[in-house]
Amino acid sequence: SQRHKLVVGNWKMHGSHAANAELLQGILASRPFAAEAAVCVPFPYLSEVAVTLANSGLAWGAQDCSVHEQGAYTGEVSSVMLAEFGCRYVIVGHSERRAYHGESDQLVADKAKVALARGITPIVCVGETLAQREAGETAAVVKRQLSAVVHALGQCIGEVVVAYEPVWAIGTGRTASPEQAQEVHALLRAQLAAATPRASEMKLLYGGSVKPDNAVTLFGQADIDGGLIGGAALKASDFVAILRAAS
Ligand code: G3H
Repeated sequence: SQRHKLVVGNWKMHGSHAANAELLQGILASRPFAAEAAVCVPFPYLSEVAVTLANSGLAWGAQDCSVHEQGAYTGEVSSVMLAEFGCRYVIVGHSERRAYHGESDQLVADKAKVALARGITPIVCVGETLAQREAGETAAVVKRQLSAVVHALGQCIGEVVVAYEPVWAIGTGRTASPEQAQEVHALLRAQLAAATPRASEMKLLYGGSVKPDNAVTLFGQADIDGGLIGGAALKASDFVAILRAAS
């Protein structure tokens, strides 16, 4: 496709001062990248990552944000704060947050809205569980999840990144086949096209056990514009190999 590829590492709750420095140096040593690249890191490391990556060509972001801008919300981090740390992206609605923190479609949509209002691009995650796939509900589930965001954002929907992450493929080593992923991406793009003329420019990422050896075929699909990478984003050589696959 004409769309420039984007590869985002989601570090999840991994890292340490020492490990982060080694990982980032390993990635930066392999510049320049043909694809756009970013890492979404745990909140406490945003400050040091912002310093390390300033003007590096590698963008950074967070893995969640509050739906509130400030106030008595113990433990929460606002998009206003993330903007102060130079975040270009924030992941919202990751299946781990939907499952373990009870995040609803509406909350995820509202988080996307507050992030955009602060100039941070939300990476909105959608995806079905194994039970939903086996029940033939995949299309309905992702449509419902995306629909909440479309309604909340209106024309601004064109400014988000969407990540399709089948829950059964996350951290399992069981990747969706390129055909399975493309099928869902095409549905998502069609749904976006009904909402915005910018749908053809929007980036739709695939996530779920993307590795150096499967990235090329996944990224070669017509509606797959890159990846949201978990485990393989923690090893510089793997992340760089995936970035190369996106070139
Ligand atoms: O956000 C990333 C995804 O959850 C994928 O994780 O690459 O470890 O399967 P994974």
